Amino acid sequence: MDIRCTFQTLIALLVAALVVGAVYLTAETGYDLVQEDDDHKLINGSTSSSSSTYSGCDLFSGKWVYDNESYPLYKEEECTFMSDQLACAKFGRHDLDYQHWRWQPNQCDLPRFNATALLERLRNKTLVFVGDSLNRGQWVSMVCLLDKAIPPGLKHMHNNGSSLITFTAKEYNARIEFYWAPLLVESNSDDPVNHKLPDRIVRAQSIEKHARHWTNADILVFNTYLWWRRPQMNVLWGSFNSSDGIYKKVDMLRSYEMALKTWSDWLEIHVNRTKTQMFFMSMSPTHEEWEKSAGQNCYTETEQILEEGYMGRGTDPKMMRIVEATIDELQNRGLNVQMINITQLSEYRKEGHPSIYRKQWEPLTQEQISNPLIYADCIHWCLPGVPDVWNELLYAYIFNYASN
Ligand SMILES: *[C@@H]1O[C@H](CO)[C@@H](O)[C@H](O)[C@H]1NC(C)=O
Ligand SMILES: *[C@@H]1O[C@H](CO)[C@@H](O)[C@H](O)[C@H]1NC(C)=O
Ligand SMILES: *[C@@H]1O[C@H](CO)[C@@H](O)[C@H](O)[C@H]1NC(C)=O
Ligand SMILES: *[C@@H]1O[C@H](CO)[C@@H](O)[C@H](O)[C@H]1NC(C)=O
Ligand SMILES: *[C@@H]1O[C@H](CO)[C@@H](O)[C@H](O)[C@H]1NC(C)=O
Ligand SMILES: *[C@@H]1O[C@H](CO)[C@@H](O)[C@H](O)[C@H]1NC(C)=O
Ligand SMILES: *[C@@H]1O[C@H](CO)[C@@H](O)[C@H](O)[C@H]1NC(C)=O
Ligand SMILES: *[C@@H]1O[C@H](CO)[C@@H](O)[C@H](O)[C@H]1NC(C)=O
Repeated sequence: MDIRCTFQTLIALLVAALVVGAVYLTAETGYDLVQEDDDHKLINGSTSSSSSTYSGCDLFSGKWVYDNESYPLYKEEECTFMSDQLACAKFGRHDLDYQHWRWQPNQCDLPRFNATALLERLRNKTLVFVGDSLNRGQWVSMVCLLDKAIPPGLKHMHNNGSSLITFTAKEYNARIEFYWAPLLVESNSDDPVNHKLPDRIVRAQSIEKHARHWTNADILVFNTYLWWRRPQMNVLWGSFNSSDGIYKKVDMLRSYEMALKTWSDWLEIHVNRTKTQMFFMSMSPTHEEWEKSAGQNCYTETEQILEEGYMGRGTDPKMMRIVEATIDELQNRGLNVQMINITQLSEYRKEGHPSIYRKQWEPLTQEQISNPLIYADCIHWCLPGVPDVWNELLYAYIFNYASN
């Protein structure tokens, strides 16, 4: 080999190293400045919010860190309003490590969740989660996170079987609600209890029946994803049970897009944008088939997926892009909806689902008992667990620690 050539390569390498070093140092310095800025010392402390500190920090890329000192943030059996669908330890799960993980973003730390601070923020206000059972799980997590900070007798749960469940912190006159609307727009699955119908029908252009219950909320947290997961949807123009309704089978992505358009048009016209903060939870991944080879799901899993950037078959990037496009379009029209990108960080957590450790609403069949794999719940998440972290992310955005 030519010596000069080698020499030039060496110089090139040196220059490259210097550049990388410089970039690295700059990044480091930036980080230090953030940490030392007294007005915004949030990382460890409790000082109130300001937006600049986290700008530029992507809260959604990072890693899970084992932390059994600070996590779980509450105890399963101590949460007054825990759901039997999510109480995995109560229903026999013994490996409880899924409760002990902290999400560590790459470039900064998440602010510490302060229940009292959030209740103060919600004084005389309403926070509503609107969506499906995953969103309901996140709402339960939120209630559990706040529960301990509210003395007994000063909290109330109202659930009369309608689509709206209301948790009230009386002293604060704060309401944390969940509204069942699994497709956001109207559908024949809108009954909060009896919604498992063989033929799903969606009124992709109608949302008012739902929206009038939450339009005036101060903070709105939406999701919709899993209920769309089929090749086609039956879309109805006209109303249910009316003789002149028109039904059409529509490609799922197209109908998803239509529904989100209906949703965003509603927001644009009806929501007070100076008052209401809006969020959209990106899709929650399932681990019904997490391996490349079929026949394995979250059943008996106790370890996380370590492959960086892992994306399972339960995740549809095309749908995520439709959500992004809808939100971008709203932004162009002056309305801010922040996406909380929980998809990737939850992908790693194949051990975080209830699996067989939850209340079974119907008695198990002999076939199920002999093969638990077929009834394991690999969709929802145990509490305390992954949705607590979703709420920590939401918290960061509610207080404007993070912004885009
Ligand atoms: C937070 O504070 C503790 C104790 O003062 C310290 O050990 C830790 O390094 C701090 N963490 C950060 C991210 O500053
Ligand atoms: C939590 O927030 C409240 C109200 O803002 C504040 O008084 C308290 O010091 C905070 N607690 C911690 C541990 O930061
Ligand atoms: C969500 O976050 C992951 C991890 O940072 C990233 O790879 C992905 O592109 C993000 N998706 C969206 C829609 O922002
Ligand atoms: C946390 O985990 C470590 C290592 O597994 C263990 O030694 C320690 O006792 C645990 N601490 C608590 C508080 O459970
Ligand atoms: C909350 O409402 C009560 C009663 O209407 C009022 O007295 C109080 O000033 C309000 N507090 C805030 C922070 O808006
Ligand atoms: C349930 O409660 C809501 C208020 O949250 C009320 O509007 C509705 O009429 C009630 N429904 C029934 C069936 O009692
Ligand atoms: C449609 O009719 C059925 C049976 O008559 C009834 O149970 C159902 O509630 C009706 N649905 C709507 C949306 O009115
Ligand atoms: C929107 O909300 C702000 C803040 O609460 C309020 O001052 C304003 O009057 C509201 N605008 C409308 C049109 O209701």
